[in-house]
Amino acid sequence: MAKPYYITTPIYYVNDKPHIGHAYTTLACDVLARFKRLDGFDVTFLTGTDEHGQKVEKAAFNRGVSPQDFTNEVSQNFRDLTDQMNFSNDDFIRTTETRHKLACQEMWNRLQTLGHIRLGNYAGWYSVRDEAFFTESELVDGKAPTGAPVDWVEEPSYFFNLSQWQQPLLDFYEANPNFVGPESRFNEVKSFVKGGLRDLSVSRASFKWGIPVPDDSDHVMYVWLDALTNYITASGWPTDTELGDLAKYKKLWPADLHMVGKDILRFHAVYWPAFLMAAELPLPKRVFAHGWWTNEGQKISKSLGNVIDPTALTAQYGLDHTRYFLMREVPFGNDGDFSAAAITHRMNGDLANDLGNLCQRVLSMICKNCDGVMPALPLEPIDTDQGLLSAVDGLLDQVRDLLDRQAFNEALRVIWQVVSDANRYVDSSAPWALKKTDPVRMAEVLAVLAETIRQIAILTQPVMPQSACMILDQLGVDMANRDFSVIAGKGRLASGHQIGKPSPIFPRYIEEGSTDG
Ligand code: MSP
Repeated sequence: MAKPYYITTPIYYVNDKPHIGHAYTTLACDVLARFKRLDGFDVTFLTGTDEHGQKVEKAAFNRGVSPQDFTNEVSQNFRDLTDQMNFSNDDFIRTTETRHKLACQEMWNRLQTLGHIRLGNYAGWYSVRDEAFFTESELVDGKAPTGAPVDWVEEPSYFFNLSQWQQPLLDFYEANPNFVGPESRFNEVKSFVKGGLRDLSVSRASFKWGIPVPDDSDHVMYVWLDALTNYITASGWPTDTELGDLAKYKKLWPADLHMVGKDILRFHAVYWPAFLMAAELPLPKRVFAHGWWTNEGQKISKSLGNVIDPTALTAQYGLDHTRYFLMREVPFGNDGDFSAAAITHRMNGDLANDLGNLCQRVLSMICKNCDGVMPALPLEPIDTDQGLLSAVDGLLDQVRDLLDRQAFNEALRVIWQVVSDANRYVDSSAPWALKKTDPVRMAEVLAVLAETIRQIAILTQPVMPQSACMILDQLGVDMANRDFSVIAGKGRLASGHQIGKPSPIFPRYIEEGSTDG
């Protein structure tokens, strides 16, 4: 039976339209989900929307509609984004669904029954934008450390005994050295926990847009307790009714990977494991925190008016080109800068010149010089053939290892090294010159190249599903032969079939108004 792999994105606040940050987190998960499917795993990929709390309630109020109507509309924008970006999620959870309300209330009941929740009074600062509590000493110039405004809040509240979980968390981190990536962020999490933990307010009594606390309708649950629980809700927990599926839960939980942005790592690497330990439930295997994008060097913000709309981006540059750029440009985990120059450079360099030209040159020569019949690989490859074939056969292991560490840009870098090797092999073997002198050798060279392109196309499907599919179509590779069981030396390109005249897959990008061409 295929091994299960359960991967999640954060669920997105529906106070606003989707932007590049949302598209980026989900894209990274989509690439991993697609890779794992091709690698034989039984993948469940979850995304969704975080619909409760004061931030969403305020946004609805400002639009003059009820929170439910408002969330229905905005949540749909996030669903639409998954189609526009060609995301392959298997489920889309909304925290306003009944299955989720049930899971949250079960989570609460377990925490309360096991003695981890008590009623008290909260007096302190609250940032609606961050949906987070702060003490006086944490404020920076009267604001949250993120720069968000804060309000003074004084109200009755239930508290979770987070302070009791300091040592169990530190022990867990020690025993699970890969729990958080990148390592530098894991160190920050550990120092935060070593600094001591205060009990956490987990209910609010001054507004209503949330999941009611069981047996106390004056309170709604703190939106982060509600939101984090989504991951286990979607695994099928806690019942075996139309609202849940315990066999599915047993298969999926604990999740293999929660992908998050660096701003929300603390919630996932401290609060969430503490809630789960307290509820006596298994902890996720890994949390990875990626960095943030800036736009042409500037922090992205609504007030600066420089928010990047993913739909506009893909309309301008192309979907797969944008997906490739976002995954290739920046070491995953670091912050990165979006610029028109950088994406144009990648499109014209890596895609048009390197991979695009390779495919176009090789397939056109097969069309012209072999009457469009796919040539056969040499029975006795010479050293240069073997060098290229070994390099491409070695890619799967390298890419798998890099993606298990979420090193997307490195994975693409090693694939493109082989693209460069292949281009050098074209130049040094000069198949066009062999046409007259040694047509047998010419056919062998073209077959080695076609085999290299086949494997590269199969390996790039997770990042560029449509373009890779076009390359495989042009090579005449069957739909049934496009997963990882037929690469890395475990299968070779078929020969003898007819291929059509290729059309360029990655044309050069010419900036509007530019004279470059
Ligand atoms: N609702 C919470 C998550 C709850 S998960 C149980 C939330 N939502 S959010 O809509 O604000 O955004 C979520 C994601 O977008 C985060 O992972 C965040 O890091 C990411 N980004 C927001 N702006 C970003 C950039 N400028 N660049 C990259 N990612 C950014 O937080």
